Amino acid sequence: MTRKIGVIGMGHVGSTVAHYIVAMGFADDLVLIDKNEAKVKADALDFEDAMANLPFHINITVNDYSALKDADVIVSALGNIKLQDNPNADRFAELPFTRQAVKEVAQKIKESGFNGKIVAITNPVDVITSLYQKITGLPKNHVLGTGTLLDSARMKRAVAERLNLDPRSVDGYNLGEHGNSQFTAWSTVRVLGRPLTELADKRGLDLEKLDKEAKMGGWTVFQGKKYTNYGVATAAVKLVNVILSDSLTELPVSNFREEYGVYLSYPAIVGRDGIVEQAQLDLTEEELQKLQTSANFIKEKYQESLQ
Ligand code: 2OP
Repeated sequence: MTRKIGVIGMGHVGSTVAHYIVAMGFADDLVLIDKNEAKVKADALDFEDAMANLPFHINITVNDYSALKDADVIVSALGNIKLQDNPNADRFAELPFTRQAVKEVAQKIKESGFNGKIVAITNPVDVITSLYQKITGLPKNHVLGTGTLLDSARMKRAVAERLNLDPRSVDGYNLGEHGNSQFTAWSTVRVLGRPLTELADKRGLDLEKLDKEAKMGGWTVFQGKKYTNYGVATAAVKLVNVILSDSLTELPVSNFREEYGVYLSYPAIVGRDGIVEQAQLDLTEEELQKLQTSANFIKEKYQESLQ
């Protein structure tokens, strides 16, 4: 079975996603789409040069939506970094730009006859994931967003740093919006087989500070280089591989939760059929309230995006 992936938006994030896929041989066919034709053609040529030194070949197609018809997964990486350069702006600052671009792109995806899975990175990702689902008409569980898979990674990195561990030794989730209303659900975070809340005092951990560090992690990176790409691209490619290999992995991704009526990040089993099964966490009252607040915020912004 050949693996065909589409990447739409070949800016810093999209080209990092594409490069990761090419360098690791994660696809047999790659469709690259960007409104800047010269740039995406140059990317394709650059990848062909790279493949002269790689042990496999990937067929690359450029700016052809009809080539998406039989794609397995499409990654939406379009965005507008100029709108992010404002310390008070949250990711919703991009909505006025991205909602228009996504409406056009989603319509073209629908017209191509695409019937695979969409992995959205484009911000504000929870609202954008909803827009992709609404416009393409794909089943809700076939459209997902990277969401707090990235923020949970940042939380793990921050906790691991304090405990001198590898981030992969930290379990747990950030939940809700991939943005300012997200939160670390400390009741889900475990290290060394113990709830982190039990270790916090003994190890002198400031959980509020750690929560903020995870939430603002994207901004911290952005301040240094005016964009982020490696963290989010790795999260997206992880999702693509989990879908293609049907590895049925539990991940905190942006998925549609009936009880909130929106896409938000909450753990779910991801596989070839997209969101295969949704988790049910035993959250504290405080965490449930934070999640409801986040959901309300996303819903308000989603309504705005439809105008
Ligand atoms: C991030 O937090 C791009 O929203 C993404 O890095």
